[in-house]
Amino acid sequence: MSLKNCYNFEDFRNLAKKKLPSPIFHYIDGGSDDEVTLKRNTSAFDECDLVPNILASVGKPDLSTTVFGRKIDIPIFLSPTAMQRLYHPDGDKASAKAAAKFGTFYSMSTMANNSIEEIANISSGPKLFQLYVHKDKSITDDLIERCKRTNFDGMCLTVDTLVAGNREKDHRTGFTTPPKLTLNSLFNFAIKPKWVFNYLTNKKFELSNVVKKTDKGTNIAKSVIEYINEQYDPSMNWKDAEYCVKKWGGPFALKGVMSVEDAKRAIDIGCTAIMISNHGGRQLDGSRSPFDQVKAISDAVGDKLEIILDGGIRRGTHVLKALAAGAKACSFGKMFLFSLSAGGQQGVEHLLKIMHDEIYRNMVLMGCKNLNELDSSKIIYRN
Ligand code: LAC
Repeated sequence: MSLKNCYNFEDFRNLAKKKLPSPIFHYIDGGSDDEVTLKRNTSAFDECDLVPNILASVGKPDLSTTVFGRKIDIPIFLSPTAMQRLYHPDGDKASAKAAAKFGTFYSMSTMANNSIEEIANISSGPKLFQLYVHKDKSITDDLIERCKRTNFDGMCLTVDTLVAGNREKDHRTGFTTPPKLTLNSLFNFAIKPKWVFNYLTNKKFELSNVVKKTDKGTNIAKSVIEYINEQYDPSMNWKDAEYCVKKWGGPFALKGVMSVEDAKRAIDIGCTAIMISNHGGRQLDGSRSPFDQVKAISDAVGDKLEIILDGGIRRGTHVLKALAAGAKACSFGKMFLFSLSAGGQQGVEHLLKIMHDEIYRNMVLMGCKNLNELDSSKIIYRN
């Protein structure tokens, strides 16, 4: 199996599984507890159907939209995801370049293995930074100031990870950062010698954005769960979020909003966007899926906030349904991490091309000339 035989999510997932040591594959693939929410994030899209209009003289549909103050060519972008160096030696550089080529956002995690400055140097494409509020508040200030200096376009604050979700696969496989060889994991790494060679012969693993501020999780191998619980502030509140919004002073989203009430409060503290998300089903299991919430949130605040749907996207038609239900754009993590693992920058480009083509083709089939025409009349819920 090779990249050119990858046509959909499952193909990228299968190829990534072949290439990655199992602790790393399962870290991407897994959700929390019983993974009910992880599954629901995608299956929720099957609860409604698209209703096309015929003979609409569509021609070439316009797929562009504007989020975080930047026009993007397709209504999809890469979610912020941690430690991309584990999936491919080029890590964030590969995803940033691929996203820029497709005229859309690359998002950088606080826990990236490349620094804000490194990525700003190699990409002038749209860039979003994802913030975690650390117990040490000077880290948060430092990250915001550096993003300002390097002209990142927008910022999002993750609000659903005050403590780490219970990812049992990570416990079982012994996933740590940096990867640590234990009796448990030795075999899993030994059978992927190419990955091990690439890992050992490329840039040393570090959490580049915080490495100077804390040596935790960079020198000492820790589970992600330990790292999150040790570093992030579980008492973070609306005042802290408002502080970040004001300090940044530009396009800002809360990532992990799930209720109408919280979406309204996001407006009150000055947010320009929200990312409806449950962290890819990796945090609160049993949480509603983003698609199940998007219509109610959009009906209440869609004219005042940019709504990004993050989670469960596997197909272009999922994007069309999300937009018809009120989202302005969609983002995805797992799917692009599998494509990154499968083929680096080329892998992510291959995925973005497939997603672009699926959205384009289905817009024509729907009879829609532009994304505004994807309104609530274009979907019907089964129940
Ligand atoms: C995770 C955090 C790091 O989902 O975002 O593992």
